[in-house]
Order: sequence, then structure tokens, then C-alpha cells
Amino acid sequence: MSKTISGFSKLSKSKKIDWLVETYFSNKEAAKTVLKQYWNSNDKLQQLHDEFIENTISNYYLPLGVAPNFIINEKTYTIPMAIEESSVVAAASKAAKFWATRGGFKTEVISTTKIGQVHFNFSGELDTLQKYFEWVKPKLIETTKPITKNMETRGGGILDIELRDKSDTLEGYFQLHATFETLDAMGANFINSCLEQFAKTFVSEIADYEVIANTDLDIQIIMSILSNYVPDCLVRAEVSCKVEDLQEDPSIPADEFAKKFIQAVKIAEIEPFRAVTHNKGIMNGIDAVVLATGNDFRAVEACVHAYASRNGQYGSLTHASIENGIFKFWIEIPLALGTVGGLTSLHPLVKLALEMLHKPSAKELMQIVAVAGLAQNFAALRSLTTTGIQEGHMKMHLMNILNQFEASNEEKAHLVEHFKTNVVTHSAVVEALNNLRQ
Ligand code: MEV
Repeated sequence: MSKTISGFSKLSKSKKIDWLVETYFSNKEAAKTVLKQYWNSNDKLQQLHDEFIENTISNYYLPLGVAPNFIINEKTYTIPMAIEESSVVAAASKAAKFWATRGGFKTEVISTTKIGQVHFNFSGELDTLQKYFEWVKPKLIETTKPITKNMETRGGGILDIELRDKSDTLEGYFQLHATFETLDAMGANFINSCLEQFAKTFVSEIADYEVIANTDLDIQIIMSILSNYVPDCLVRAEVSCKVEDLQEDPSIPADEFAKKFIQAVKIAEIEPFRAVTHNKGIMNGIDAVVLATGNDFRAVEACVHAYASRNGQYGSLTHASIENGIFKFWIEIPLALGTVGGLTSLHPLVKLALEMLHKPSAKELMQIVAVAGLAQNFAALRSLTTTGIQEGHMKMHLMNILNQFEASNEEKAHLVEHFKTNVVTHSAVVEALNNLRQ
């Protein structure tokens, strides 16, 4: 049985590690060595990472890869991707190259509105609440001025506040439903600060209003928080070409490939079991760029999947068509991203990733991320509908298996060559490695 501990967060980093290894590890020195191996030798950089979160004991590395040759609206990009799954960067690069010779990716930002809500209980006449809301609304806006001033100077801020009656679904439940434009910031802190001020003002003005309107108001704030669901912060990315220009693999004619591809998308549109995997593949690309650019991938994930269910059934985030001999493949997704604030100016690799992307605005980053998702889905569907996914996957996985068995560089080179013409399976790799070692 392990022990509980109080005051852990107040211990020094080395004392935290001492407690941890004492409590959980049989080989204490080995555990310490692993943790320390991942510390950065640059003390300042390590301190920066230590201070991102509480109780930091080490760093958790993910590979940062790049997928070059993306043409987006005639501009060339190399897209940074932080991800552990072996085949993702390779697939993105392949799709980028494929579309680079077929007009590239076309993108547009459709909308950029973010949402936040003050959830509250009210008992009384709806009419009384509505009148109070109309009276207090300018004060809600006014009292947030210290928070919104800078954002407004740059052209953003609060767009509107609505009173929403939800009491038909939950007794006594109402909302202040607010919309925001947060420009290049993801905006979570800005929105949450505004909402908490709305809640304060909403309650503190009750007393004055009760006197003026000679009425009683029974309002109880439950909570104030942004919504990560942003269906009006939408971006679209698209590729298209003549069906015959899809030809690449001689084993399958272009029109047959196009039809199979469209059918694969249609299956994901109507079949949730397939749609989840289809969208997971899209998120392989999206999360990797979101993470590399210091954005909140949990927020993006939560939002995207809610959006995929917006019609009452979970479905594909991408769509495809053939009209008049033109193959078209597109994605439309909500993405709340930032290129200022948060980690963007703090994490050296995030700064580097953003510079690699030509220091994009949040709108530009939305487009790049949507393209990464579309490209990933194209690569996955192309493999799935032709060779199958395992051929490419296992080729990429080969290195993981070899590393698992601590293959030397010489052994790796030999086996990579061997598996260019042999099917990679776990047992085939182990057997080939054993043969080599005998
Ligand atoms: C694997 O990470 C992602 C895929 O399963 C996506 C898909 O099936 O479309 C290959």
C-alpha cells in the first residue's frame, strides 16, 4: 500500500523525487536516473519547463517532426508536428506532395466567434428577469472595460450577451450566453475573466434594481466558464482535381480509386463506428500541429467531436464529391486557436514552430491545422482503399520493434533493407533479428 502525503507541492523538486522513488520504486537509483536523463542541461530552460505546471519532476518528450511541401493558397509551408505515432508525419508529407502537383490546398476562415456562459438559477417570473437583464446589460459591458480595453483597441472584444432560458430542460436554469472575438488569442483567460466580471455585476446590481423596479429578484450564480464548443469559429480546407489526375498507383485506375474513396467518406458520414476512426485519423494530423504550436489539443478535440455530432449522429468531419469529372475533398471544422499568449511566446520550440509557419495569425493557423487534418485523412483513405493501412504502418513501426530489441545501427540498416521486400510483422522482425544475431 502506498502512502498519502500532505504538503507535497511545497517540497523541493529533489525532495519530491526522493519521496516518489522511496514510495514506488524497487530500483530507486534507476528510477532517479531515468527522470534525470530527461532534464535539460540548460538550467534556465529546465526551470521554464518546471514552472509550466505544478510538481514537475522531469520532461516528457514527444518527437517534433516536419512535413514539407504543403501548398496552401499558393504559399509553401513546412508543417511542424509533435506526435509519437510512427506513420503520421510520413503520411502528411506524402499527401502534401501529392496535392502540391494538383493545385495544392485551398482554405478559408468562415467565422471566428468564441463563446462563454454564466450559468445561473432564477426563480420568479421570466418577464421580471428579462427586464432586469435589459437594464443590467450595459453595466455588464461597462464593468468589463478594464479587461476588454486592449482587445477592443485591436478590434476584438465582447460581441453580444444574450439571456437564455433553459428552464424547460432544467428547472430554474438560465444563462448569460456571451459571444467574443479574441483575434490572435485563443482567448480562454480573456473570456473567463469577462464572464466572472459579468457574474459579479449581474449579482451586485440586483439591490439597486430591486429599489428602482420595486421588485424582488432571486438569482444564484452557479458558474462562469467559456465553452470549448465553438461551432461559429469555423475553417474550411479543400483539395480538388480532375478525376483522371488522381492517377498515381498503376494498380488501380483513377476513376475506380475516386469512387472507392468517395464511398469510404460516405461510410464515415453515416456509420458512427467508422466515423470515429476516420475522425481519429484526421485528429492525428490536427493534434500534432496544435501541440507543436502550443495550443490546447484537449479543447480542440472536445469541440471537434461535438461538432461531428451536431446533426444528432456522430459523423465524418470530411466530405467528398465527384461532379462533372472533378474530384473534390474537403473539411469544415471549428478550431479555437491562438498564436499569441499561452505557451506561444514561452516555449522555445513553439516559437520556432510558429516562425517556421511564417508567424501566422490565429486565422492563418486555423487554415494550416485544417489542412493537416484533411491531408492526414486523404493519406489514410488512400491507403485503406488501395494497399491497406498495415503495409505503410508496419514499415514505420519496424524501427519501434527494432528499438524494443535494442538492435544496433548495423542491425537496423540490415533489417530495414531486408523488409523493403518482405512483409513486416512483429514475429517476422524478431525472427530476422535472431537469424542475424546467430
Ligand atoms: C490510425 O492512427 C488512423 C487510421 O485508423 C485512420 C482511418 O482509419 O481513417 C488509419
